[in-house]
Amino acid sequence: MKEIVIATKNEHKVIEMKKMLEPIGYQVLTLYDFLELPEIIEDKETFRGNAWTKAKTLSDYLNKDVIADDSGLEVFALNNQPGVYSARYAGEDVTYDDNNKLLLENLKGVEDRQARFVTTVCLYRLGKEPIYFEDYLNGTISREYKGSNGFGYDPIFVPNGDTRHLAEYTLEEKNIISHRGKCVQKLIKYLKNEEKVV
Ligand code: IMP
Repeated sequence: MKEIVIATKNEHKVIEMKKMLEPIGYQVLTLYDFLELPEIIEDKETFRGNAWTKAKTLSDYLNKDVIADDSGLEVFALNNQPGVYSARYAGEDVTYDDNNKLLLENLKGVEDRQARFVTTVCLYRLGKEPIYFEDYLNGTISREYKGSNGFGYDPIFVPNGDTRHLAEYTLEEKNIISHRGKCVQKLIKYLKNEEKVV
């Protein structure tokens, strides 16, 4: 079995990735499997840069193949902000609600509320060039909050073609259309095809 490390401690991501990677011959390790880990500083200006930094730092340290991802929200009228700063838009150690409030404040009086979620995954394998996968979820930023599922900007994000806010979706519904769900599907498809070739 080939070992691969998923650069996350998010229980949900771990379960999903294991479910998809184990049937195609991978033994999935996560950050919970290591006692010591290097400090990772996500200081790049792009999702790709941050995903690469995470994957490379861990791969160099653990001497293993690594999958790392980075995600965020781009609001077109705000020059694609918060972007890579999505988690800390309102500052360090803030809540999702602080970030949402600031975003709505910054969009006061703005008519164009188009935005998209972005996920980039970096597949970083020893002795190989890194490979990237990217996907999006397009929508608009609402003026009011709705729903209690999900996390982050979900209560103020309305996917295109729907009137429901993302926080009103079940996890299963969200995974089908979400930037992250679709991006991981691309990665799995790539690895499955590679399996067939080898
Ligand atoms: P991460 O790279 O997956 O940790 O995402 C960084 C930040 O982007 C999160 O802390 C959220 O603020 C935002 N974000 C990413 N994906 C989503 C999502 O699916 N819904 C809402 N917010 C998200």
